[in-house]
Amino acid sequence: MFGHETGEERLIAERSNVLEADAFQDVLVVGAGLMGSSIAWLLSKAGCRVVLIDAGSFGGEASAAGAGMLAPGGEYREPSPAARFAIESLAMYPTFVRQFEKESGISIDYRKCGAIELAYDHEGWRALRRRADTQRRFGISAQMLCPSSLSALAPGLNLEGLLGVLYYPDDACVAPADLLRALRAVCECEGVRILENSPVEKIDAERRRVMVRVREQRIIGRHLVLAAGAWSSQIPVSRLGVTTHIPESFPVKGHLVGYRLLSGSLRPILRNGHHYIVQRKSGFTIAGSSEEQGGFNRSVNPERISEIRHAVGSFYTPISMLEPTREWTGFRPASESHAPTIGRVPGTNVWLAYGHYRNGILLAPATAHLVSHQITECAPQVTGR
Ligand code: GLY
Repeated sequence: MFGHETGEERLIAERSNVLEADAFQDVLVVGAGLMGSSIAWLLSKAGCRVVLIDAGSFGGEASAAGAGMLAPGGEYREPSPAARFAIESLAMYPTFVRQFEKESGISIDYRKCGAIELAYDHEGWRALRRRADTQRRFGISAQMLCPSSLSALAPGLNLEGLLGVLYYPDDACVAPADLLRALRAVCECEGVRILENSPVEKIDAERRRVMVRVREQRIIGRHLVLAAGAWSSQIPVSRLGVTTHIPESFPVKGHLVGYRLLSGSLRPILRNGHHYIVQRKSGFTIAGSSEEQGGFNRSVNPERISEIRHAVGSFYTPISMLEPTREWTGFRPASESHAPTIGRVPGTNVWLAYGHYRNGILLAPATAHLVSHQITECAPQVTGR
């Protein structure tokens, strides 16, 4: 039963070079980004003893790098299970954020700010109208706006040559740094044990338990969730000593550029093609992005930065002459199926939650609820620590 060691488990723990005498955990979560820590928090609330393990620092990779757009309007153009999942996750956000704020006392910059998609040529505008028709049929609200109404909604927008505008009123934004601070606090409050700078070398699944090797130590759990973003498939997983295939994960690097603007000067997200702008409550304004496949190379490429600056400056004039105050990169967690990898590795208690690609921040609430529900359902005896 969760929360109670059997004699066999105690013996294993004693024989192993484990973290502590009571290191037999209910759930080990590998990857302390938004995804892993949200799952850890929910499982802990459900009464599980949880250890959250990260190779680096809590939320130190894609979660912290992201612009924080919660914007299915710009990301899902066709009906699909992934699109439905995204719409569901967006709807969960207000409660998700309120709960963290209430439990941690940390305020989170989350706003239903809407998003504007711009078309400066006829072909682009035709494509946007077709897209809106399709999206409305599967649940994304999209309105056509008259370009002349935009000076009030988004002052500073370049109206010259603007042919059409699509408005997504339900799209929202969140500051990932706020979310991560609050998540860490609520995880700690729930008793989640957080191990940072602790790379997991391998995952060994046996019939009813899973072991990981971390810095020469073994940690044993009843279940394990692998949520290590782009790094997930680099960790070998074996079942009863035999290597098991898990879907490949890989990084798609994005460059981002930050500017200091007046707080409140831009409300909605602005998008044109692959480029977007989103403003935090503080006025810090983020422009993105590129999509590059080339491994885990963190370097900032001045050419990519200049392309982004030029592209966003062409539709949002307040930043066309402004020097950025920050330039950075992040690794989107892509996977071979181009869709999130969520589910159980057959015949094991290893669960996968990675590959959220461009929408990890958006998909965190729905993924966390799904994975934590699946784990607690298959162990209905969870009754409390
Ligand atoms: N979610 C936006 C991006 O990945 O650039």
